[in-house]
Amino acid sequence: MRLLVARLLRPFRWRSSHGTARMLLDFARAERSSYFDMMEAANVTAEPARKAQYLAHAVDEARHAKMFTLRALELDPSLAADPSLYQSDFEHLFTRLGEAKFLAFVHLGEKRGRAQMKLFREELHALEGTARADTRTKALLDAVMVDEERHESYSLELAKRFGGSFGAARFWEFRRNWLRAGGVVTGAVYAVSMSVLYLLLFPLALIEKSRAR
Ligand SMILES: [Fe+2]
Ligand SMILES: [Fe+2]
Repeated sequence: MRLLVARLLRPFRWRSSHGTARMLLDFARAERSSYFDMMEAANVTAEPARKAQYLAHAVDEARHAKMFTLRALELDPSLAADPSLYQSDFEHLFTRLGEAKFLAFVHLGEKRGRAQMKLFREELHALEGTARADTRTKALLDAVMVDEERHESYSLELAKRFGGSFGAARFWEFRRNWLRAGGVVTGAVYAVSMSVLYLLLFPLALIEKSRAR
């Protein structure tokens, strides 16, 4: 679904340095969020081999977040004070899901993330030689994808070993996204209804005020 949306939005990508920088900051936020989840996994896991794997994964994600942020700021230095530079979505996934489902979830996320990066990399490759070419961002995606492929394969191997259900991980993610979307819609409905109520009550308030004089 996310890949389909990314494909549909292709005509709007790579049009301005600011737009590309914003998109790279979104990537940086996702990488930062993964860093926190992998650090939690490394801290909670007692078995040394897996602890080391989770820690190495966390270090990779922190590096990716920095790389995307630096490239974004290179493209648009005006974003240096943007609050999104420090934001992340740490959800304590390891402790909430348990190791098996967490690993299945991580594998699906890595697979999806790499597919999106691959798509963007191909788009940039097609733009080479044109005014919209961006070889530095393309090289950045190439470098990051090498690590993402490793994350994708080790998490698959561990998810299988621990019996992590990909169906259950997908369902959990679907439910989480559904609840998030519900929260956004509820907020918007509340704002609209309060505005309408204010507009409807405003004339009554004026009448009441004139009667009180
Ligand atoms: Fe990453
Ligand atoms: Fe990753």
